[in-house]
Amino acid sequence: MFRKNNNEIILLTGGTGFIGSHTSVALIENGYEIVVIDNLSNSNQIILDRVEKITNIRPKFYKGDVRDEILLNKIFSENKIDAVIHFAGLKSVKESVNNPDSYHDNNVGGSSILMRCMNEAGISRFIFSSSATVYGEPDYLPIDEEHKRSAINPYGKTKLDIEDILISLAKKNPNWSIGILRYFNPIGAHDSGLIGEDPRGLPDNLMPFITNVALGNIDELKIYGNDYPTHDGTGIRDYIHVMDLAEGHLEALRHNKKSSGVHFFNLGTGKGTSVLDLIKAFEEVNKVKIPYSYEKRRSGDVFSSFADVSKAKKILNWKTKKNITLMCEDSWRWQTKNPKGYI
Ligand code: WQD
Repeated sequence: MFRKNNNEIILLTGGTGFIGSHTSVALIENGYEIVVIDNLSNSNQIILDRVEKITNIRPKFYKGDVRDEILLNKIFSENKIDAVIHFAGLKSVKESVNNPDSYHDNNVGGSSILMRCMNEAGISRFIFSSSATVYGEPDYLPIDEEHKRSAINPYGKTKLDIEDILISLAKKNPNWSIGILRYFNPIGAHDSGLIGEDPRGLPDNLMPFITNVALGNIDELKIYGNDYPTHDGTGIRDYIHVMDLAEGHLEALRHNKKSSGVHFFNLGTGKGTSVLDLIKAFEEVNKVKIPYSYEKRRSGDVFSSFADVSKAKKILNWKTKKNITLMCEDSWRWQTKNPKGYI
């Protein structure tokens, strides 16, 4: 692919995933040309049709795995890639507990191969999809980027290990420019309802559970714990609209172009929302009922997690615009338009 009217060309690994697909839309709509590599292990090629329907541009797509160096070298020889946004990876906390090795091989192994191939191709701009999970049990709230890191599950350990590899890479190669984005809890969907969160099998995360209970696919929501030290006893998280998160990548890319070294940013709203708060907001805006019952706490859950977002505001000039009501409205529109996800 040759650069048109001076637009940068960005490779998105895992670009057909939940965050990757929404970031694809945001980048295309802001004049970037994008190339996507995805092994479709947790997504569907239909997503490319949907991105094209939204933007009138179909991303250039390579089906495959970031651990395939031959494929990566082919991509880097066929496209003048300016920067890489690395989404590809396994992301289920529960699954990682039972499969720590495959999580390490996919997430850490894949990232190392990607970085090596980038280096050989002379590409030194990298944005990494990290997670608030790296903070472990919070010592203080809101959580800022200086908060200690600790992995409380194998998934979180892979994110922490990749961050450490990037830190040492930046020390050895001062010409690299690296943005590490720590997502809090992404929910919602593009307002067209054409793309959204479509977990394979039983969902792990709260919002897909809520939307499937609302659809009647699941009888009731199980709330893990109502005895936490919070205003209503249920867990608190910083839910961020996936399109706000996508815009955060846009600003991180702009910052990445004019900086070097490694920079960490929390991407959240800075506000905490409990499970019961989210259920109430969802019921109110969508006029549906979410039956639920209380279960014991889920092991590994922290009682509360929400971000100090002042650094992203100051350095990236980015902050979220969409509130919980809109997140619930957009999630529901996606789910009702796609009751069985992407099929
Ligand atoms: C949110 C809240 C649960 C399901 C994980 C990963 C994190 C990121 C987001 C990838 C908690 C409660 C949930 C349910 C419930 N993923 N809950 N019933 O655990 O904060 O974060 O997903 O990057 O890295 O760790 O998100 O949506 O699973 O839980 O009561 O059926 O909802 O206890 O309080 P979590 P979650």
